[in-house]
Amino acid sequence: MAAERGEFSSRFGFLMAASGSAVGLGNIWGFPTNTASNGGAAFLFAYLILAFALGYPALMAELIIGRHTRSNAVAALKSISSGKKSQFLALAIGFVGIVTVSLILSFYAIVSGWMMAFFLDPISRLLGLTSLSAWLTTDTEIRNAVFVIIFMVLTVLIITAGVKDGIEKWASRLMPALVGILLLLILYVFTLPGAMDGLRAYLVPDFSRVTDPQLLVNAMGQAFFSLSLGVGTMLVYGSYISKDENLPVVGVLVALLDVGIAVLAGLLILPAMYVALESGVQIYDDAGGLIAGPGLIVSVLPALFSNMGPIGLLVAVAFFALMTIASLTSSISMLEVPVAYSVENRGIPRPKAAMVVGAIITSISLVIVFNFDPLFDMVVSFTTERSQPLLSLFICIFAAWIWRRNEILEEIRQGSSKAEQGMFWKIWPFYVKFICPVAILAVYFQ
Ligand code: TRP
Repeated sequence: MAAERGEFSSRFGFLMAASGSAVGLGNIWGFPTNTASNGGAAFLFAYLILAFALGYPALMAELIIGRHTRSNAVAALKSISSGKKSQFLALAIGFVGIVTVSLILSFYAIVSGWMMAFFLDPISRLLGLTSLSAWLTTDTEIRNAVFVIIFMVLTVLIITAGVKDGIEKWASRLMPALVGILLLLILYVFTLPGAMDGLRAYLVPDFSRVTDPQLLVNAMGQAFFSLSLGVGTMLVYGSYISKDENLPVVGVLVALLDVGIAVLAGLLILPAMYVALESGVQIYDDAGGLIAGPGLIVSVLPALFSNMGPIGLLVAVAFFALMTIASLTSSISMLEVPVAYSVENRGIPRPKAAMVVGAIITSISLVIVFNFDPLFDMVVSFTTERSQPLLSLFICIFAAWIWRRNEILEEIRQGSSKAEQGMFWKIWPFYVKFICPVAILAVYFQ
């Protein structure tokens, strides 16, 4: 247990790391397509409310528990529980969280691998390597396996370097780059014919859909996945925040960055799809809905880029660099969960822990790559639709029902001495105690 713990060196560093975790394929791919297929701005509206009303309180539960206990999820939940039964439950939740996040990483790495392959494709074409380009863009098991391994090696390397020199350093470099690329791409796509139709599809609400239960289920799932909740990621990142930091405020900033970048991504993806339509690319599937699955990223958008002529190569490089960056700052936050546990509870040195856990997760990924059809969708829906919401529910229960209330207040007071009089303390405890659990259960049983 003696291993030295890392800490983020500044608020900026923490914000980049935590928003790097939050902002990922879920924002840039999941959110825009979910919006388009769920009544445009009606979904956006429901998402904003759910992200702040349910996601933010659950995020705060993780950050507060993490910073108070200064440990990984398993040890943290155990140390805030007093009775035998709740300690047993703590272990169970911590371990299920570790398994869940590892499985999430195992499918996330596959999709991230596609992003890297499509990033290299325009470069290979620029160099005249046509057969390499064909290999990179053809969906084969070998290509997928190679890129899973490359992506996981990068993830392991960053985690090996630790909290400050790995996670914080890379997130602080990559996240500003991500925002810059995103803004440039939006500006460019806006100048193209068709973009305004996409903007309309994105922003004109079909309010008859707001009370549609399926829309609410999708919006909540999206919010929990996007804020990386339930599996201990935010708890572990919270455990590296300095005691001088005002937690409710940094939590709001993380949620705002996450939601803000998702909304921005919508300004890129939907206009881009309608620009593609304008240039003759098929953007509707057989059922008449917008293509939202893998086809969107690996066929619709590349078709658009290749219709753009030479500048299309540059746009493609920028777009897939954006996707790769978003993936990498998220994948490191997933790997950190089992690694922090192995280092702190098992006494394994960080480099070895990162390598061994990384190898195990890569192996699971490869099993999925070679058995894609039966496994991929199953792992995605089991982890993100079943396991993650229930784990979030339990973390709220730990924070609100099992942990002592005065200890929570003590923790928030560090870094915000008048916390008791603030809005946060008036509303949050009630929220995590009653509203979050009931709402999560209600949506879950939909
Ligand atoms: N939030 C990231 C995204 O939107 C993915 C992610 C990172 C995640 N860490 C997580 C999802 C932990 C669930 C749990 O793509």
